[in-house]
Amino acid sequence: MIDIQNLLRPNIRKLKPYSSARDEYSGQKGIFLDANENSFGTLESGVLNRYPDPYHRHLKKGLEKIYNINSNKIFTGNGSDEAIDLLIRAFCIPGKDSLIVMPPTYGMYNVAANINDINIINVPLSPQFKIRTDAVLEQAKDAKLIFICSPNNPTGNIFNPNSIKRIAEKFDGIVVLDEAYIDFTDRQNGLVWLNNFNNLVVLRTFSKAWGMANIRLGMAFADPEIIAVLNKIKYPYNVNGLTCRKAMELIKKQEIKKQAVESILKERTKIIKKLNKISGVKEVFPTEANFVLARYEKAIELFNYLRNKKIIIRNRTTVMHCSDCLRITVGKPQENDKLLKEIENFYN
Ligand SMILES: Cc1ncc(COP(=O)(O)O)c(C=O)c1O
Repeated sequence: MIDIQNLLRPNIRKLKPYSSARDEYSGQKGIFLDANENSFGTLESGVLNRYPDPYHRHLKKGLEKIYNINSNKIFTGNGSDEAIDLLIRAFCIPGKDSLIVMPPTYGMYNVAANINDINIINVPLSPQFKIRTDAVLEQAKDAKLIFICSPNNPTGNIFNPNSIKRIAEKFDGIVVLDEAYIDFTDRQNGLVWLNNFNNLVVLRTFSKAWGMANIRLGMAFADPEIIAVLNKIKYPYNVNGLTCRKAMELIKKQEIKKQAVESILKERTKIIKKLNKISGVKEVFPTEANFVLARYEKAIELFNYLRNKKIIIRNRTTVMHCSDCLRITVGKPQENDKLLKEIENFYN
């Protein structure tokens, strides 16, 4: 068991959070003259003119059922990007502390670290995109946080669960396991380990499989002690009421998400099969996510050619271990067909 309080930045440990009007009275009914809202309202009067519940309790009840986790272990935020930033702010002292990232990986870990003036220790994945567990643990004594993205963006692979568990077990800091893409694979996910490791934080998002990138809703699952800290330092009304309402609507119709994921997986298989048959495609990497990373001949020319055709994919050629690599997000059938046709045309 890790002593979470001891790991926190001292100023965060001592922080007395802002107490919002809605903190002081959580009842639904009453004459609300406490929060300087517009009592008359404009659009959707009686709803949109009122501040939302700061802890999104109704939404969390829905999430509890989906993820089979008590709401005291759930943080909801403005995208999982908010949780990434808050975790860094809670545990790392600017200008002093360090965190570990494993490039090539999701770029926001570095950006959030840089904004907060936190030193980044890079422990690159192997050229086959595997975690170098021993190298991570060697560096871990100097770090407060370790970010692990699995399935990893942009490589698409999922990491060996034993590597992740070993890191969580041996590390005296916080392990952030970003599972933004986990719904696109049947492999084991990290939520099952939360009871074993009180230093593990699992991130999820409504932006990928749930198909709701626009509403900006992300989640962190962790020990209640960590969740309480995130709640203490977040903006009081970090998730808005419209977002909560749309998320609840979808939670009640999970079938839609399931069908979308099935369609994406079918299309992913089609893209991989086809790419493997195109002569200019040098290597298609295995993927457990909703995107496909591959290595191409004349990658930058192909990228520009597609862009001129108004087909936008992601150029990853300058990223570590990803020379000549482009990342394709799985689209709708006709979009994928058009893309594949144009890739063929480019090489013919
Ligand atoms: C690995 C990973 N984590 C988190 C995010 C951001 O998620 P959100 O939209 O919830 O902020 C992304 C977005 O691309 C991602 O690739």
